[in-house]
Amino acid sequence: MSGARLAVLGAGAVGRSVVELAEEYGHTVTAVADSSSAIVDPEGVDAEAVLQRKSDEGVVGDNDPSEALGAAYDVLVEVTPTTLGDAEPGFSHVKHGLERDKHVVLANKGPVAERYGELRELEADSEGKIRFEATVGGAIPILSTIEDFGPTHITAARGVLNGTANFILSRMAAEGLDYEHVLAEAQDLGVAEADPTFDVEGIDAALKFVILSNVLADGDQEFTLEDAAVDGITEIPGTALDLAAEDGRTIRLIGESTPEGVSVAPRLVPADGPLSVTGTLNIVQLETTHAGRLNISGRGAGGPETATAVLSDVSRLVE
Ligand code: HSE
Repeated sequence: MSGARLAVLGAGAVGRSVVELAEEYGHTVTAVADSSSAIVDPEGVDAEAVLQRKSDEGVVGDNDPSEALGAAYDVLVEVTPTTLGDAEPGFSHVKHGLERDKHVVLANKGPVAERYGELRELEADSEGKIRFEATVGGAIPILSTIEDFGPTHITAARGVLNGTANFILSRMAAEGLDYEHVLAEAQDLGVAEADPTFDVEGIDAALKFVILSNVLADGDQEFTLEDAAVDGITEIPGTALDLAAEDGRTIRLIGESTPEGVSVAPRLVPADGPLSVTGTLNIVQLETTHAGRLNISGRGAGGPETATAVLSDVSRLVE
């Protein structure tokens, strides 16, 4: 099979971009659901019409959202918002797909960060597989790089995996502005969400490093957010960035995955070094056993950027 039939659960920025770009990747969207509606068409939905209706009326179709789960599809695309704790309803969506022996691709971080062991158990009992490249670093193919390299040959992952926090810190440093001012600017520009709590408190980055830890552990150990030491950027005064600059350094929200656990905290880094990416860029450094350090950087968020990771995963599963 090369072209797959996709059921897309979630019609936020990522879900809408998946619907828009699927055809370009050779796939057919047979169902789309948001939190209050769904459209199902075994021949393929009219992507333009669905997106127009979502924009005009706030719904994707006339059906109940649950009908998308019963649609004819090859790959379930789970792009509903990340929730913590029980990771619902995302976890149940994945379970439903795997129990139908279908593949599942996630951009939703919740199930992978909070219930990884259970997901892998469900996968072991299914003909379907799960992939979740889009959960870490948007467009950056970091999980497939780890898979190709071999997780046992990587000893640690480190870097910047939250675009909102990075935008705020790099603007504070460049313009000498304080945190509240730059946060308001980021919200005006649509870089930060209306509720940026997960981003500025380090939780979003921590979820991504927990997922990296789970992939690096390769089944030997399971990590959740409870294993992460997390500190955000809300208390950093503008003067701290000025002081760092006097020394040729700056501050970035740096996360780390090692066999001991996960940490996310503001750290001093060289201003001209690879970790001091600017704006909404992300970077991940992989420490390898025999090949030194790998750096991989790119756009860590955004609808089309994250949708490319989703659609690449779909292609990996069906080609
Ligand atoms: N809100 C995240 C960020 C993107 O700012 O990087 C989604 O994980």
